[in-house]
Amino acid sequence: MAFSVFLLLLSAVAVLGQIPRLAAQCPGYRATNIVQGDSSLVADLILIGNCSLHSKDVEKLRLLVEYQTDTRLHVLIADAGNDVYQVQEHVLPRPKSQNIDAKGAALKFSFTENPFTFNVTRASTGEVLFDTSDSPLNFETQYIRLRTSLPQNPNLYGLGEHSDSFRLPTDDYTRTLWNAESPFIPNRANLYGSHPVYFEHRGDSGTHGVFLLNSDGMDILIDKTESGQQYLEYNAVGGVFDFYFLAGPEPASVSKQYAEVVGLPAMMPYWTFGFHQCKYGWQTIDHVAQVIANYSAADIPLETVWGDIDYMNSKRIFTTDPSRYPLDKVRALVDSLHKNNQHYVQILDPGVNRINNYGTYTRGAEKGAFLRAADGSYYRGLQWPGEVVWPDWFAPNTQDWWNNEIHTFYDPSTGIDVDGLWVDMDEASNMCPDTTCLTSASSITPLGWTPRRPPPRPRGRQALAPRQSSPPPTDSKLGLPNRDLFNPTYRIASHRGALSSYTLYTNITNADGTHQYDTHNLYGNMMATATRRALLARHPAKRPFVLTRSTFAGGGRAAAHWFGDNASTWDHYRTAIRQMLAFAAVHATPMVGSDVCGFNGNAEEHMCARWTMLGAFQPFFRNHADVSAPDQELYRWPVVADVARRAMDVRYRLLDYLYTAVWRASVEGAAAVSPLWFWYPGDAATWGVETQWVLGDGLLVSPVVDDDSQTVSYYLPKDVWYDFWTGERVVSKGEIKTVEGVGWGDIPVHIKGGSILPMRVKSANTTAELRTQNFVITVAPGTDGIAKGELYLDDGESLDVGDEKSEISFTWDGQGFQAKGAFGYDTDVVVERVVVLGDGASRTKEGPWGLREGFDFHL
Ligand code: GLC
Repeated sequence: MAFSVFLLLLSAVAVLGQIPRLAAQCPGYRATNIVQGDSSLVADLILIGNCSLHSKDVEKLRLLVEYQTDTRLHVLIADAGNDVYQVQEHVLPRPKSQNIDAKGAALKFSFTENPFTFNVTRASTGEVLFDTSDSPLNFETQYIRLRTSLPQNPNLYGLGEHSDSFRLPTDDYTRTLWNAESPFIPNRANLYGSHPVYFEHRGDSGTHGVFLLNSDGMDILIDKTESGQQYLEYNAVGGVFDFYFLAGPEPASVSKQYAEVVGLPAMMPYWTFGFHQCKYGWQTIDHVAQVIANYSAADIPLETVWGDIDYMNSKRIFTTDPSRYPLDKVRALVDSLHKNNQHYVQILDPGVNRINNYGTYTRGAEKGAFLRAADGSYYRGLQWPGEVVWPDWFAPNTQDWWNNEIHTFYDPSTGIDVDGLWVDMDEASNMCPDTTCLTSASSITPLGWTPRRPPPRPRGRQALAPRQSSPPPTDSKLGLPNRDLFNPTYRIASHRGALSSYTLYTNITNADGTHQYDTHNLYGNMMATATRRALLARHPAKRPFVLTRSTFAGGGRAAAHWFGDNASTWDHYRTAIRQMLAFAAVHATPMVGSDVCGFNGNAEEHMCARWTMLGAFQPFFRNHADVSAPDQELYRWPVVADVARRAMDVRYRLLDYLYTAVWRASVEGAAAVSPLWFWYPGDAATWGVETQWVLGDGLLVSPVVDDDSQTVSYYLPKDVWYDFWTGERVVSKGEIKTVEGVGWGDIPVHIKGGSILPMRVKSANTTAELRTQNFVITVAPGTDGIAKGELYLDDGESLDVGDEKSEISFTWDGQGFQAKGAFGYDTDVVVERVVVLGDGASRTKEGPWGLREGFDFHL
């Protein structure tokens, strides 16, 4: 009796939209039929007693533990009937298990039978990394919960996408994962992507990673119990507990181990590392031509021009506006860009305007490519063009339809010969918050809808739509039948309100029988993947370039990502650094960057200057602004234009270094951008640093971060460093350095002792021209006097370069310099000289040395 009153109270709390902080101790499950093999363990988990906190308990579960590799442990807790939704294999292919002997594994799984709880420990030290023993798990039809105890104030990173501190708060902190359009990227809110993976760093005792492969909406709570016990708790509205534990122990190894699970990031074309300019609100193609001319006149390299939705006719995808962006003029502009070795990228949104005589819509309808509501009609919503329907990426013919639209519209001989595509609004974002907008759909003015206010915070429960029951799934793992797919009792803390608010209704059934309720967070990844495939169908041998706003774990396999609609503020300038760190180091997505100078609001000259320099050291470097923001191209202010020339100069000279770092990420998951603690894991002063980053293996970037300031204090770990700009050698004992008078175009950068930096001798106007420049190689000996580095070269654009690539490793042993490796890329470019930095004057040896074979010499 007392127990049920307690449960009643608890559900009342949940109905009010609050998250129960007190874990109601449910009896949990007991393990039976345990079968232990050398490299696996299976068991049945049987419900001990009812709990049903937010929905109905699932009575029988199945546990599978696999020692997949020396460093990867897989723990899957699913319903015994296999009906509960699991992310489709084709969306996120699972890594193969190598079935290694548990005795030799770096991680050890142990458990208690009754109630069932489990621990993961590091075999070498016995240290407990994950420990559920304090609270038995909950597994209900619409609510699953699992809690792990953690050491006090743990160093946790990841669980993106968010704009909070890079090292996550550990008190009263909720990370909600539910992809949502998030203007002004609010703090403590779910943003555009969902990455249920965290890295935990424990200093000298190692770093490990925990990935929960689950795409359902969830809150991850990081907090302390009343008795002070630190914990992290998953609360999801569905799906299974599909955990991958990654042993590290080096931080960089965790990045690689994670990429092995979710997939290696796609290699990017060489040109995409150049500078990109975009703007929402370029009203005419003539205006775009003027922007290009202005860049040229200002002598600021411009690699790529972007077309936002302005090019479209009434904002319909795959159309051009006949008077503002006539097709022949767009084609002529793209031609002239290409003649100058510049590039052009266009935006695509998922919403397809539902009107007559619109080919994209009618062809999609014929192919069965659109999502349907429960009554069988097309599911309709509101996006830029007005009333739209949305592609169902699970439907069998959607890819064909999408390929065809892209093929036709972007046909180089009749259409727009784009070099890449930008997919946006793919959360999917619906401008209609609920059912109200479409009651008078015909009265919607297509161009009149531009909500640009931050969304209101939800209050209480929101009524959305009548509940509709969905047909029971026909195959396993597609999702349990008879769930409330609109308003599950457990309400995640989405800043957009209810699950279906400002997006697709979560009761929509996808073509394969799954529901948006479970697959919502995958929409962006699926659109990006479909777009990548369409580009491949268009040019099978060419490396595609796709930029996506919405992502899920493994999103880097298909696309680059920018951080969405930030604001032109110093705060978001700083936020850009920690978002870059999270995506590149933790989320296996190296090609990332913020909208440089900020998207919303007015960019101020000094801020834009600083942000431009920061952007030069971001993997993806694009200036972009909203229609309501003033133009902010880099030539618009004298200070910014000067800084831009300097920023481009250094970025382009370093471009192959950056390209090599991103290539390394694409072949082994190494972090192209990493936090200082990746390199100095034992140094506690590095663990919270989020305003500096290491680019590649050897460049530490430490920008001025205070508002409108010319002073910066940055941390230099104990090591030998070289000022990148002057070559001066700095030996640090692990000190905070303060520099004053840092000009608007200055940015402290240090070469880490022990690295070798290949750079182009000179910058250029385009990346094509840059590729003809020779190299200079800078050696920065470490404390032991030696150094190493690498250079990757290929044609910059082929998908499969085969053997036509060079993977060159450089070493310096204190006297001798060596370049060796594979030299399959045919180039006339040479290394003009090698410079060895030192205490006082540097030593230089003039070349040239060709890059078709190795070389070595003494100095
Ligand atoms: C979204 C995008 C933004 C774009 C705008 C218009 O707000 O995030 O980058 O400019 O839509 O397409």
